[in-house]
Amino acid sequence: MAQSQPQPSSSARKVLASLFGRRVILVAGKGGVGRSTMAAAMALAASQQGKKVLLAEFEEPAGFRASPLAALFGQAIFASSPQRIAEGIHGVTIQSELGIELFLTGLFKIPALSRLALRTPALRNMLRAGPSFHEMGLFYHMLAQIRERDSGGDNRFDLMIVDMPATGHALALTGLSSILLDLVRRGPIADALRDGRSVFYDPAQCAACVVTLPEPLPVSECLELIEGLRQSEMAVGAVVANRVPGDPFTQAEREALDAMLEGKLVRGHTIVERIKRAEGSMARLRAAVHVPLLLVPDLDEDSPFRAVAEHLLREPS
Ligand SMILES: Nc1ncnc2c1ncn2[C@@H]1O[C@H](COP(=O)(O)OP(=O)(O)OP(=O)(O)O)[C@@H](O)[C@H]1O
Ligand SMILES: [Mg+2]
Repeated sequence: MAQSQPQPSSSARKVLASLFGRRVILVAGKGGVGRSTMAAAMALAASQQGKKVLLAEFEEPAGFRASPLAALFGQAIFASSPQRIAEGIHGVTIQSELGIELFLTGLFKIPALSRLALRTPALRNMLRAGPSFHEMGLFYHMLAQIRERDSGGDNRFDLMIVDMPATGHALALTGLSSILLDLVRRGPIADALRDGRSVFYDPAQCAACVVTLPEPLPVSECLELIEGLRQSEMAVGAVVANRVPGDPFTQAEREALDAMLEGKLVRGHTIVERIKRAEGSMARLRAAVHVPLLLVPDLDEDSPFRAVAEHLLREPS
């Protein structure tokens, strides 16, 4: 039997180089498709190419919890300021309240005053009541991270890779700044939003990387997400088809198997059906998506992000 693993597309390196040439990659997709695995794998791959990487995720609305992303690096959660988690990689949790504090500090120029303001019940209530303030805080904390400088005045991080929340929340976040700018056209909030947009909505500096499984429903959701991102003017730099099944059969073997099994649901047949669904999904993606498509195989490992990073860096033979 000829074993053929899906290979990265011939331009996989070029796709990575163009993604990694930006300052920010937002790894997005529906729940469970492999966003965290991909964000961690990209962080590893970029650090192996000599980049200083900041791997970021968002705080849970309900607060403290264990993070599956941090667990990949042997941590419970990432701190709210960047901490080293591996060679060339720092991890951080993006926190809304911290973002708002930074914003107020920029406004008042005195950190103690902004902390005092944040303790005012009226302000706290307003921040809690308006979900858009929550998202604005996240936005501002991300912006502050990517703007950080080291003691020599250089960028502290070359690249920030963000493990975005699942679809709906990600769109709320990316669409927010333009909605808010329609409401608030002048003043410090509008200035901060414009400032953030100059980084996050500049395709040369920031792009989303949308992850999907090669299955009909996830592909439909992936296409909807891409459309939503397009409407919010967020660039999509690449789409990743994750967990593409390897095809262990030659064409002749598959035909023989089809003829032999004819509708009987046995294990071999289930595998063939999955491969066919993946092929159909890939064809749909290729037809609908006009950005580079990366293929990542379904790897038989518990924690596959290191193997995914190796796969991303390897040129096809
Ligand atoms: N290429 C792959 N091969 C095999 N297993 C994979 C691959 N990519 C991801 N997985 C596995 O799929 C599961 C989901 O992956 P992951 O946690 O990265 O998804 P997610 O999109 O971040 O999920 P969530 O919505 O829960 O945050 C994990 O068990 C992970 O190890
Ligand atoms: Mg995740």
